[in-house]
Amino acid sequence: MEFLGVSGVLVALMTAFFLLLFFMLTFCWCISPILILNKLKRCGFGGPTPIFPLGNIKEMKRNNSNIVHSSLVSSNLTHDIHSTVFPYFSNWQKSHGKVFVYWLGTEPFLYVADPEFLKRMSAEVVAKRWGKPNVFKIDREPMFGSGLVMVEGNDWVRHRHIIAPAFNPLNIKVLASMMVESTNKMIERWVTQINSGNLEIDVEREVIALAGEIISRTTFGMKDDNAMDVFHKLRALQVTLFKTNRYVGVPFGKYFNFKKTLEAKKLGKEIDHLLLSIIEGRKNSQKDNSQQDLLGLLLQENHQYEKGDGKLGKTLTIREVVDECKTFFFGGHETTALAITWTLLLLAKHEDWQNQLRDEIREVVGNDMLHLSNLSGLKKMKCVMNEVLRLYPPAPNVQRQVREDIKVDNLRVPNGTNLWIDVVAMHHDNEIWGKDANEFRPERFMDDMNGGCNHKMGYLSFGFGGRMCVGRNLAFMEYNIVLTLLLSKFSFKVSPTYHHSPSIMLSLRPTYGLPLIVHTL
Ligand code: HEM
Repeated sequence: MEFLGVSGVLVALMTAFFLLLFFMLTFCWCISPILILNKLKRCGFGGPTPIFPLGNIKEMKRNNSNIVHSSLVSSNLTHDIHSTVFPYFSNWQKSHGKVFVYWLGTEPFLYVADPEFLKRMSAEVVAKRWGKPNVFKIDREPMFGSGLVMVEGNDWVRHRHIIAPAFNPLNIKVLASMMVESTNKMIERWVTQINSGNLEIDVEREVIALAGEIISRTTFGMKDDNAMDVFHKLRALQVTLFKTNRYVGVPFGKYFNFKKTLEAKKLGKEIDHLLLSIIEGRKNSQKDNSQQDLLGLLLQENHQYEKGDGKLGKTLTIREVVDECKTFFFGGHETTALAITWTLLLLAKHEDWQNQLRDEIREVVGNDMLHLSNLSGLKKMKCVMNEVLRLYPPAPNVQRQVREDIKVDNLRVPNGTNLWIDVVAMHHDNEIWGKDANEFRPERFMDDMNGGCNHKMGYLSFGFGGRMCVGRNLAFMEYNIVLTLLLSKFSFKVSPTYHHSPSIMLSLRPTYGLPLIVHTL
């Protein structure tokens, strides 16, 4: 009798638990998103119909898999890439225009490909009031932690004030010699390979490795063996997070691929551990504090702040310095490497521009040692860089989250809405750039800083507003140095084995690498 009583209570408790779970899941997966969906409709926004709890993810994945198959058989080198890299946005634009809401799981995203709408909306918000999507903060925690890319509000102001001066052109000058040294090492390797009769080089793989070495050395200096170890682990982390079937935005979505989530967490911890030991070592050694690398510059700036007002909370903690170093790795190496990679593809395709740049290098830099002051004279190279970043922006989208209701004319963007700004769409839009939007024409930037773009928010390679890329001077320097050295030594042609299939793995990259036929000059 007593036994039955206990089991009865257990059954009742279990039933109550499952009922509660059922109601919680129904609320999270259906009721709450449907309420938000209705609110967004009342605020004036349409979009593709979501099916909760996946939102529009299923349709996005279906669109993506169609593209992968067709790109495999295509060797057509068109720059009209929006429908290839974002097939779902390209389709939805046809029925919903350039501003609409779509859903990643139960998270609403306001899609924006209209520069005028972006201008009006951002006029209402100062940089520190913008949020970064919580859903990505959680998902990418092992990569960025609370580094500059992800922090908000007063924390963002504090981080930015300490970090921005470290990246000013005078400070980063000292990093140039490391860039030259690493590039020359790669050049020597290429010459050996070419002399052995193998002219085909996977330029994407090589340049990503080069930029990895450069960012390891420029962040931590030349001596630290741990730096390359960190780099390899960070690459593995990126592959773990972005090469798996993912359900970001779906409640409990990370448990769908639990093994990968654990793997990412473990790699994240190992990286933190390594970085902590490098930074602690540096902080404790008075001599190395002045070391001329990004970590040294950052610790120096931090120290200035410590001395400046001595107030706790004004400086970066060690934990925050760790996250900033990770952010430099991710923000800094792949974007710059891809800018160089896509440039080499476009120059291989457009030999006239390859020759024009080579002539300019001969004229401005000569055969002398590469002097930094000369690099600013490379005007045509700057136009080529702008045009490549327009056609193939390594950061193909910019994200924000709204932290208070924003009114844009008669529309209202409610607090909590995520923004997804489609940079690829804007950069390829005929209405903004004219009929030749999908053509490689660096001359459009020659006498016009805006490249003939009819809207000041139409070109967003480095983002917009106060949160614009903090590392762009470093990127310009690396781009100029690497291309000057490569173009002075080699000529490039597209290999017949190249498949033109740009795709997104956080950044915009060539899916099957970039095999080029390379000759020494
Ligand atoms: C061609 C190379 C690069 C491109 C295309 C690029 C692009 C971008 C973009 C689009 C943003 C977002 C801006 C926004 O949200 O409005 C950004 C932010 C950022 N980038 Fe870069 N970047 C490049 C190189 C670098 C380098 C070399 C570093 C550092 C080593 C770096 C560090 C950062 C950081 C820390 C942020 C966050 C800034 C903030 O939120 O205040 N980037 N970058």
